[in-house]
Amino acid sequence: MKTIGFIGVGELALYTIRGVRRGGYRGPVLLSPRNRDKAAMLAEQYDCAVQVDNQSVVDNSECVVIATRPADCMATLAALNFKPGQLLLSVVAGVEIEQLLSVLPDGIEVIRAMPVSSAEAGASPTLIYPDNEFVRAFFEHCGNSIPVDNEAYFTQGSVLACVYCWFFTLFDNLIEATSGPDLPAPLSAELVMGMARGAAELALAKSETPPAEIAAGIATEGTFSKLGLDLLHQNRAFEPWREACELLQKQLTASKQE
Ligand SMILES: NC(=O)c1ccc[n+]([C@@H]2O[C@H](COP(=O)([O-])OP(=O)(O)OC[C@H]3O[C@@H](n4cnc5c(N)ncnc54)[C@H](OP(=O)(O)O)[C@@H]3O)[C@@H](O)[C@H]2O)c1
Repeated sequence: MKTIGFIGVGELALYTIRGVRRGGYRGPVLLSPRNRDKAAMLAEQYDCAVQVDNQSVVDNSECVVIATRPADCMATLAALNFKPGQLLLSVVAGVEIEQLLSVLPDGIEVIRAMPVSSAEAGASPTLIYPDNEFVRAFFEHCGNSIPVDNEAYFTQGSVLACVYCWFFTLFDNLIEATSGPDLPAPLSAELVMGMARGAAELALAKSETPPAEIAAGIATEGTFSKLGLDLLHQNRAFEPWREACELLQKQLTASKQE
């Protein structure tokens, strides 16, 4: 099993490491020392080893994960010495493989991945580009790996890692809208999340059927489902979601040209 070392111990490192450990991953995990409290907690509770500095993480890891914020990524990597044959796994949004290679010596394999915080619950659909056996197996411990063979797919797919976040706000609005004297908030929350999971499970199970077709099959004439769906369409409720996706796609592509 390869030694994997994280440079940047923030939220992503925290939920990914928690997720893979809970999912049975037993390989050695090294951590950079900055953000001491998180690193110490992960070392104590999730069997990780904190290194003295970033270079020690690189020296002692076969797979190095760069998990700083995008603005810190290139300078952090440029300050480190890698050895040919090492694997760099970047989880940094908006930084393409070509950019990463520009600050690395020859002979480093670079893979990108986009785990989301449901990794902590063993349920991250993790986009990976390009495919790599070790990386794919690693993220299978905290959800399911989705390798793609095209970086444009990865960029467009990364937009959905942000849509994932928006779902929580939608859940919150639905809980607020439906809870009150007739339905306690915890029960509403259980139903909102349960319905969302149910809809996702059915759409995945019937992947050959477009989700709009599933909706049309439920929201037939005279149903309460249709009454509400018609109102949502009349108010153009879905257009802003499309616009937000387009905005992110533009931003993620623009950072490539910077
Ligand atoms: N969080 C998510 O949901 C999510 C999802 C998908 C992808 N990502 C990607 O994951 C990356 C990390 O996100 P995050 O949410 O974990 O951010 P974060 O919580 O801000 O963590 C980043 C960590 O990197 C540290 N850092 C910065 N420069 C460093 C250096 N030179 N050496 C060592 N550590 C350094 C920061 O320390 P200081 O705070 O001291 O600067 C911070 O602890 C981002 O690039 C983001 O695009 C995040």
